[in-house]
Amino acid sequence: MAILPIIHFPDERLHTKATPVAIVDDQIRKLIADMAETMYAAPGIGLAATQIDVHQQVIVIDTSENHNNLLVLINPIIIKANGRAVHDEGCLSVPGIYEAVTRAAHISVKFLNIDGKETVLETDGLLAVCIQHEMDHLQGKVFVEYLSQLKQARIKQKLKKRIRETM
Ligand code: NI
Repeated sequence: MAILPIIHFPDERLHTKATPVAIVDDQIRKLIADMAETMYAAPGIGLAATQIDVHQQVIVIDTSENHNNLLVLINPIIIKANGRAVHDEGCLSVPGIYEAVTRAAHISVKFLNIDGKETVLETDGLLAVCIQHEMDHLQGKVFVEYLSQLKQARIKQKLKKRIRETM
C-alpha cells in the first residue's frame, strides 16, 4: 500500500470527469487500498480517485468514530434523493476551509462494492452528505464551487497564501 499525494483546489485536474470502472480487478483493489491508506493518513472521512489524479469512478468513505468501517463505492449512481439538509463541509483538496452546502437529505445510491457486486444503500445524515460530496469529485466538481464567486476568490487567495507560508 502507499500514501498518494492529494491534489489541491484550484488545480485544474480536479475538474476531470472520471470514467466508470469496467472490471473490479486486482488493479482496482490496489487503487482502493492506496486510497484508503491515503484517506486514513490525512486524516479524512472520504476520498474520490479524482483527488489523487486517477480518473476512474472509485470512492472510499469511513465516517465511523473508530475508522474501522470502510465503505467502497465503484460507479455510484444516485437512484433516489429527497429532502434538503445543510452541513458544513470540508475537503482534503481544500485544506482548512469549512463552508455550508445544501444537499439532498436522503439518498439511495447504487454502486459496485469491492467485490464487484451491485449494491444499493439508502442513507441520510453525514454519510449521505459525504457520498454526494465524493460523487461530485468524480464529476469534476469541488464543494467550494457551490459558493459565490466572491467566496471562491477569497478561498483561492487563502490557499495560495498558505502555500507561500509553508515554502
Ligand atoms: Ni472533497
